[in-house]
Amino acid sequence: MKKTMRFFLSAVAFAALAFVCMPAAAQNKLTINADLGKDVISKHIYGHFSEHLGHCIYGGYWVGEDSSIPNTRGIRNDVVQALRDISIPNLRWPGGCFADEYHWMDGIGPRNKRPKMVNTHWGGVTEDNSFGTHEFLDLCEQLGCEPYICGNVGSGSVEEMSKWVEYITFDGESPMSKLRRENGRDKPWKVRFWGVGNENWGCGGNMTAEYYTDLYKRYATYCRNYGDNRLYKIAGGPNEGDYHWMTTLMKNAGRHLQGVSLHYYTVPKNWNDKGSATVFDEEQYFETVSKTLRMEELVSRHSSIMDQYDPMKRVGLIPDEWGTWYNVEPETNPGFLYQQNTMRDAIVAGINLNIFNAHCDRVKMTNIAQTVNVLQAVILTDKEKMVLTPTYWVYWLYKVHHEATLLPIEFSCNTYGVGGRKIDAVSASASKDASGKVHITLVNLDPSREQVIDGELRGMAGKNISGKILTSPKLNDYNSFDRPNTVGVKDFKGAKLSSGKLTVTLPPKSVVMVEIS
Ligand code: AHR
Repeated sequence: MKKTMRFFLSAVAFAALAFVCMPAAAQNKLTINADLGKDVISKHIYGHFSEHLGHCIYGGYWVGEDSSIPNTRGIRNDVVQALRDISIPNLRWPGGCFADEYHWMDGIGPRNKRPKMVNTHWGGVTEDNSFGTHEFLDLCEQLGCEPYICGNVGSGSVEEMSKWVEYITFDGESPMSKLRRENGRDKPWKVRFWGVGNENWGCGGNMTAEYYTDLYKRYATYCRNYGDNRLYKIAGGPNEGDYHWMTTLMKNAGRHLQGVSLHYYTVPKNWNDKGSATVFDEEQYFETVSKTLRMEELVSRHSSIMDQYDPMKRVGLIPDEWGTWYNVEPETNPGFLYQQNTMRDAIVAGINLNIFNAHCDRVKMTNIAQTVNVLQAVILTDKEKMVLTPTYWVYWLYKVHHEATLLPIEFSCNTYGVGGRKIDAVSASASKDASGKVHITLVNLDPSREQVIDGELRGMAGKNISGKILTSPKLNDYNSFDRPNTVGVKDFKGAKLSSGKLTVTLPPKSVVMVEIS
């Protein structure tokens, strides 16, 4: 491997070099075993997270019934349609840190009578509770997705959480179902995914693993299964590589839970200066993708701990907050976590989703943070305008993996390096859907060299091959409100299949989906 030339800080130099494209010698070997799949990739791996934070809920989804922005019962139609187009499978709400300060009873009943609160975590703004339980569950119904509600452990009570479950899911006669009916909803909703606290090692109460584990059991006991509604209870899990937290939970509460969350954000620099979303050099790009690859280590190591206490893999590992976290865009509220989203983010998304697919025997759901206007958003809005980010298009490309069978692959690839450090240049994943079509998703991390993949398709006589690609001349290209189609999906002609021999030529910095039938 030639030593990769380092880019310089100047944005001009960066932009110019972004067009340089050198072929890499074909050392990328991929074997796809189309007849050996066993584990199903849950569609819930492609889930989302939306918090009462900045303009995620207010402005992002909720504009109110009287808005001139086209809406259905106050929820904007354009955002709903865009999320339906990527078959959003679930939505986590109301936080995040906000969840452990949220008192659900403040968010029901006539909107003009709902008490207000201060959103202390996110900008100190006044929350008027106009978007509450009914609005959220209406949103999920409009989206056609499953709700994932995160209850308040940090500042709430066992009784409060228990009553919330009763309010939403109990069909008979009870104080909470009566209240729900008085608020206009006769039939209960179905809610399966239920989080018991969020980041209880931090904003959710600064607890120890031991203390939270005991609390988890207490709260979870009173979250009841009413009628045929079956809760899938998700414990507040570890921060990044806190293996003690995972061990403590699994050892002492493993049989009382169905899922354990995991949070890991990709921060290119450090928590004090995270780096810009749009102005970065190749070294920062390399840092970003290297750090995001740590997800593989985190998922593997947490899974091995879970294997010790749950060898049958009954409990799901749920990375319900992940994605890039940069400095906020200049002149925006620092508490609103609004950031742009570039081709770099698309590459990050593609890598992480390939990792989650590979671990679908243990990873049953994930939620990128956060759907609209916050962190690694798939959608940005500005009043009546909406843009779909490069990350959105990765979710669009990867829809083919929902509920498909993961195919075992053997893969070796070139490396991509900066400053003497090297990582794999290509990330890959393959699955077979119910109709027998094989889909391969590939990410070329290298910003300046194409990658030629020599592949073999075993166990299937593929006849047709086609594909789609997401790429852009520069890594920091993004879709703005003025130029919303700068980064988008195009047909891909770089894949060939002949007598089981597969050749795919990946342009630099690209995310590709290949379909074989
Ligand atoms: O997604 C933003 C915040 O990051 C969430 O509220 C919190 O859970 C995490 O620290």
